Amino acid sequence: MTEPLPFRALRARLSRLLAPRLADRLLKAVLADGLASYLADPKALIPAATARRILGAAHAVAAGQPLPLALGEAWFWERRLSVNDDVLLPRPDSEVLVEAAARLLPPAGAFAEIGVGSGALSLGLLDARGDCRGYGTEIAAKAFRVARENLEEAICGGRYTLFLGDGTRPLAQRGIAVDLVLANPPYVGLRERLDPSLAYEPRRALLGGVEGCALPKIFALEAEKVLGPQGILVMECAPREAPYLLAFLRRRGGEVEELSDLGGRTRGVVWRLKRLSER
Ligand SMILES: C[S@@+](CC[C@H](N)C(=O)[O-])C[C@H]1O[C@@H](n2cnc3c(N)ncnc32)[C@H](O)[C@@H]1O
Repeated sequence: MTEPLPFRALRARLSRLLAPRLADRLLKAVLADGLASYLADPKALIPAATARRILGAAHAVAAGQPLPLALGEAWFWERRLSVNDDVLLPRPDSEVLVEAAARLLPPAGAFAEIGVGSGALSLGLLDARGDCRGYGTEIAAKAFRVARENLEEAICGGRYTLFLGDGTRPLAQRGIAVDLVLANPPYVGLRERLDPSLAYEPRRALLGGVEGCALPKIFALEAEKVLGPQGILVMECAPREAPYLLAFLRRRGGEVEELSDLGGRTRGVVWRLKRLSER
């Protein structure tokens, strides 16, 4: 398509590909504030490149792709992020982690995120707490590149350092300690039937081990290596694995608190290590 397309014609084409609600979400995502003027004047012309983008995304969504992946962009904590199939698409449920971390991080504190993926959680916390600085690690080189693009401003501004590496090793090797560790580890069990909505997500971002909480437990041990005696871990978990993870953390000492997601299920844990120093 090289010619501009009347909005009315574009809508007609979309209606043959997508359910009306999905078509509306796609139009809103791409046209943003401009949508109102097209709705008011359906004969108005959509530039050819925009129409191509909308129809290309509509075909991908019709074939089963999640809308953010089809568009190459997702929204998290009121920020637009670049995404592709190398990273987990950020989930609204994960915003409870950012909220908790923003509340618990001490003034001018430092945090580290293990497994940054798109960079959504780190960016959210940097936005929520203008006084903090952060570090992030990511083991997958392709995901690391996406995070670097999304976090570029914070990296260039000196507020954030991103490492390609395993767990907290890149920080520990440099003697970096932080006040809080944030993580959304892979937590789907190997034997669990994958929800169809996860078909487009990278396996490495999903699979947490034979039991889903194997990697979350390892992430918690990694967090301990860079947290001081008053340190705090804020970590997402699968609702069904939460009891095992909570029991594991309680056995290691300190205080444990549950975080509920938007549907009221346990979706995260806050682990305060403070009793470790009293042992
Ligand atoms: C569930 S995704 C979460 C991504 C992002 N934090 C979010 O919430 O959208 C987990 C991420 O951890 C990364 N990862 C897995 N094992 C890791 C490890 N040992 N060290 C660092 N990153 C790891 C994966 O590649 C993936 O990007």
